[in-house]
Amino acid sequence: SVLVGGVTLTGSLVAWAKLKGVMSGGQIFLPGHQAINLVLLATVLVAGALALFVVPVGSLTLLYQLLAVAVLASFILGVTFAIPVGGADMPVVVSLLNSFSGIAAAMTGFVLYNNVLIISGSLVGAAGMILTIIMCRGMNRSLANVLFARFSLTGTGEKEEYVNVKSGEPVDAAIAMANANSVIIIPGYGLAAAQAQHAVRELQSMLEERGVDVRYAIHEVAGRMPGHMNVLLAEANVPYDKLFKREDIEADFKNSDVALVIGANDVVNPAALSDEQSPLYGMPILPAHEAQQAFVIKRSLAAGFAGMKNTLFESDKTLMVFGSAKEVVNGIAEELKEQ
Ligand code: TAP
Repeated sequence: SVLVGGVTLTGSLVAWAKLKGVMSGGQIFLPGHQAINLVLLATVLVAGALALFVVPVGSLTLLYQLLAVAVLASFILGVTFAIPVGGADMPVVVSLLNSFSGIAAAMTGFVLYNNVLIISGSLVGAAGMILTIIMCRGMNRSLANVLFARFSLTGTGEKEEYVNVKSGEPVDAAIAMANANSVIIIPGYGLAAAQAQHAVRELQSMLEERGVDVRYAIHEVAGRMPGHMNVLLAEANVPYDKLFKREDIEADFKNSDVALVIGANDVVNPAALSDEQSPLYGMPILPAHEAQQAFVIKRSLAAGFAGMKNTLFESDKTLMVFGSAKEVVNGIAEELKEQ
């Protein structure tokens, strides 16, 4: 309990600091980092073993001293465990630590013979672990890779060379969607960054009034948190039955007139299907490139979280509409009124 609880407490504080920007979001490695982790872990285990098996009954002072050593080493271990993880991978770590907190509670339940703690702790531990695994699978990465790999997928900042990229104005998207039967909206991190959910909801209503079938395709790792897009769209009162999980809608893209990509990048990158060298290779994507036409709303050709070139932007069927998501979506809605 001390080990898992201590690691969870300080690890969560580091996660908070990274996500809040209080400390650098980059990976931080100390010299001999894994060796330090092992020494700290061994310290906690040895202190625990001594406390349990060596200290004579009644020697409370020594027991407290050993407990203090274990607590201190666990606190430090929480920090050294969390600092090597890149800021954008932090949601995985937050979910893992959440799971750890449940495990710590369950273990305490065994010590105290408390069934409520055992059951509730196990539920929290299992739920957090399932969420962690879902997030890793959605990114096609192992948990070990997220926690220990000495590289980060976080945008390299390198400018990728694009050829034959076509760009248009909101009016182009408005005309295409006004004449469409079926539109699939793919939200991504940029939608959240621009807080464009209400504008998108309004656009959806306007299209539906014209008899267009509008659905949302939700990728399991779109955004930066599990359920990020669902929560965002729910806030704007998008009906739940309009939201489709990737596996439930991916086959429908080829029958759709328009795929409207709003602030999403990695989750629509066809390189994940074909480029074996890509770090995204093997990650399931939403096949926006299979729709009759794709409109991509983002501010530039900059890479997404994985730092990779997106071949969708060069597709003959794609028209980029550059700008911040909220302004562009509002612009499309304005143009739609004219159609
Ligand atoms: P990303 O691939 O990160 O792309 C987001 C895009 O949004 C960027 O390319 C950016 O391009 C654009 N953007 C940013 N601000 C914008 C704004 N104000 N208006 C319009 N566009 C804006 O997003 P995604 O497709 O949602 O993929 C998520 C990524 O995060 C995946 O690689 C996933 O593995 C990773 N990840 C997800 C999670 C979970 S659980 N969701 C956890 C950890 C990591 P511009 O700068 O050109 O605008």
